Amino acid sequence: MKFLQLSVLPFLIVILSLNGATLAHPYGDFLHCLSLRISNSSTISKVIYTQNNPSYSSVLNASIHNTRFATPTTPKPYAIITPRKTSHVQSTIFCSKNHGFQLRIRSGGHDVEGVSYVSQVPFVILDLVNFRDVKVDTKNEVAWVQSGATTGELYYGIASKTQTLGFPAGICHTIGIGGHLSGGGFGILGRKYGLAADHVIDAKLVDAKGRVLYRKSMGEDLFWAIRGGGGNTFGVVLAWKVKLVPVPPVVTVFTVNKNLEQNATKIFHRWQYIAHKLPNELFTAVWVMKVNSSQVGKKTVQAGFRGMFLGGVDELIPLIQHEFPELGLAKENCTQMSWVQSILYFGGLPIQPVDILLNRTALPVSSLKAKTDFVREPMSETGIEGFMNLFLEEEADFAITMIEAFGGRMDEIRENELPYPHRAGILFESTYIVQWANEADSGRYINWIRRLYSYMASYASKSPREAYYNYKDLDLGTNNIVGYTSYEQASVWGLKYFKNNFKRLVQIKTKVDPMNFFRNEQSIPPL
Ligand code: FDA
Repeated sequence: MKFLQLSVLPFLIVILSLNGATLAHPYGDFLHCLSLRISNSSTISKVIYTQNNPSYSSVLNASIHNTRFATPTTPKPYAIITPRKTSHVQSTIFCSKNHGFQLRIRSGGHDVEGVSYVSQVPFVILDLVNFRDVKVDTKNEVAWVQSGATTGELYYGIASKTQTLGFPAGICHTIGIGGHLSGGGFGILGRKYGLAADHVIDAKLVDAKGRVLYRKSMGEDLFWAIRGGGGNTFGVVLAWKVKLVPVPPVVTVFTVNKNLEQNATKIFHRWQYIAHKLPNELFTAVWVMKVNSSQVGKKTVQAGFRGMFLGGVDELIPLIQHEFPELGLAKENCTQMSWVQSILYFGGLPIQPVDILLNRTALPVSSLKAKTDFVREPMSETGIEGFMNLFLEEEADFAITMIEAFGGRMDEIRENELPYPHRAGILFESTYIVQWANEADSGRYINWIRRLYSYMASYASKSPREAYYNYKDLDLGTNNIVGYTSYEQASVWGLKYFKNNFKRLVQIKTKVDPMNFFRNEQSIPPL
């Protein structure tokens, strides 16, 4: 019976036509292998999307968040697998391994270098779009969340049960849990509670041998590594058990915009000395971008001071007036709302019913390049001025730098507690992003952000110049696409992302995936 079902499947043997000759390709073997293992033909049609499938492009593009990697010349996967059961994941690993396909795992598709859906060698995508369950247990203040869910789906799941619990993860609500927690996860609750990864208390992982492991069975080394050591390195994480954190029913958000003509440089200079020392309940950030000036036809640069306070406006105003009077915060700059609404506010969405958090395509996508820095010493006023002036250039029309204050809980967690090492002594993290509309111009924009990054070299952390893995930057160095990558070669970028934790990550990788099945341009290589 099984044989009959399979024999009618059109994709069992794929023949590539090459200059009139025909050539059997391992793709056919891969599909044959996977179809045999899944066995039920109606399930197969919901799980395997080959290039012949009319839905292939829409499934591929559904969660691409950097259109720089969605051009006609971008390498495409031989197939996209959207598993519905753990056994489908195990089978995909088995068949990819046995038939020479690289596996790219995708949860939310926000990887800024596109490594979850692009590879230079034959590859298939394991897309966890159907692994999206969120189970919130308010009594024990925990949740099990599957990797394919977004942060927005988790936030919504929590907020629909309680107004007094939250989760400290990233700002944008469309980010996938799988990639986000694998690399750290910093957001507006970060100064109070640390990273998303700091709150992971268990996980379900399928390893390179296809074994299903939980914290107890994977052991503390591997459990340490998956909480910040990067995705697609140690296995496929299917779900995470996270500890929720208390939030007050009312929080206060604010924005005060200052441009160059309104002393933005001086206020930003002052902010650097204050923001990391403010009470942990107060998160602040500065968003720098080009805006229209009050003089018609002219542009200026704006520093937008934004904040979220875990308390009411009446407590916030005197606090800021005392600690940071230069900001001139007034009641009209502030809005009180629930914690979950503050996610919309920081995500740049109008305040509206929070079920928008369930919309995975609510935010526009563009072509972009990102880079990050961690800053440990305040920049000089002239240094800030030079930085801001770079935003007056033409290529910065759609550029933004998001500068987020650290300190608070981040100062208290040891550098080696998790693979993410950027903790005590960081004043702020800067995420530089440049976007463009026309792919043909990408070179100019990428050059601009590289110049901005060179400019910041004298102000950023040094030896190593630290970088945040969740905003991958392949300019920092890459693994060899095929074959062996030495420890020394990978250290060039690895030490920037993980500092002294890189060595331990390599040791763990060597133990759990010595053949380097799970790999990408910046995955941890085995020895
Ligand atoms: P995606 O699916 O692209 O995966 C990213 C990486 O993880 C890839 O290498 C992938 O193979 C791997 N991976 C994914 N799922 C996996 C799984 N289940 N098991 C194993 N490996 C897996 N960061 C932050 O800290 N705070 C923030 O506020 C933001 N905001 C933000 C906004 C926007 C618009 C973007 C584009 C990015 C951010 N980020 C961020 C960065 C974000 O945290 C980072 O890109 C995450 O890796 C995204 O996770 P996804 O699952 O969406 O990515």
